[in-house]
Amino acid sequence: METLEAIRTRRSVRKYADQPVEPEKLQQILEAVQQAPSWSNLQCWSLVVVTDQEVREKISDLSFVESFFSTYGYKSNPAQKALAQAPVVIVACADPARSGNLHDQPYYMADMGIATQNLMLAAHDLGLASVFVGVFHEAQLKQLLGIPENIKVVGLFPLGYPAGEAKGGPSRKALDDFVHYGTWQA
Ligand SMILES: Cc1cc2nc3c(=O)[nH]c(=O)nc-3n(C[C@H](O)[C@H](O)[C@H](O)COP(=O)(O)O)c2cc1C
Repeated sequence: METLEAIRTRRSVRKYADQPVEPEKLQQILEAVQQAPSWSNLQCWSLVVVTDQEVREKISDLSFVESFFSTYGYKSNPAQKALAQAPVVIVACADPARSGNLHDQPYYMADMGIATQNLMLAAHDLGLASVFVGVFHEAQLKQLLGIPENIKVVGLFPLGYPAGEAKGGPSRKALDDFVHYGTWQA
C-alpha cells in the first residue's frame, strides 16, 4: 500500500475478528515503531506486548475512567471491548527523561504520537487494525504490568484483524479551517 493511501484509509477499529496475529506481522509493526523519528534520536519509547486473555481483560476494565466518560454520558470507553477482543494489546510507554522539554512542552508526547502513528499505519498496511486508547487508569495499569515508576503509559493499542468492513470514519475539518498561508490572519 502506498503511504498516502494508508494515511487516507486508516480508521480506528473497535471490533476484531477471532483470528491471531502472525508473529512476522507483529515483528514488522514493532520495527515500524523502531524507525520513528524522536527528539535527539533518544527513542523514549518502550512497548509491552500483551497476548494473555486474562491480562487483556484486566486492561480492558482499566480503560473505563468513569469520571472522564460520565461527562459525555458514556457507560464505557468506546474501545473497551476491543482491548479484550483483539488478540494482542500493545501498551505504549515513554520515559520522559529520554526526550526534550521546551517552552513547557514535554516532547515525549510528540515522540510517542509519531511512533504510535507508525504502529497504526504499519498495522493497516498489513491488513490489521488498531485504535489509540488514551483513557485508562494509569497507576493500576502500571501495577498490573510491572511498569517502573518513572515511566509514563501514553496509550493502549488493541491489534488484530478487523471484524467486517471499516466504515468511512468521522469527518475532518476542511483545510480552510486549519491552514493559514503566509501569516495566521491571511
Ligand atoms: C490521543 C488519542 C486518544 C484516544 N483515545 C481513545 C479512547 O480512549 N477510546 C476510543 O474509543 N478512541 C480513542 N481515540 C480514537 C479517536 O476517537 C479517533 O482517532 C478519532 O475519532 C478519529 O477517527 P479515526 O481514527 O477512525 O480517523 C483516541 C485517539 C487519540 C489520537
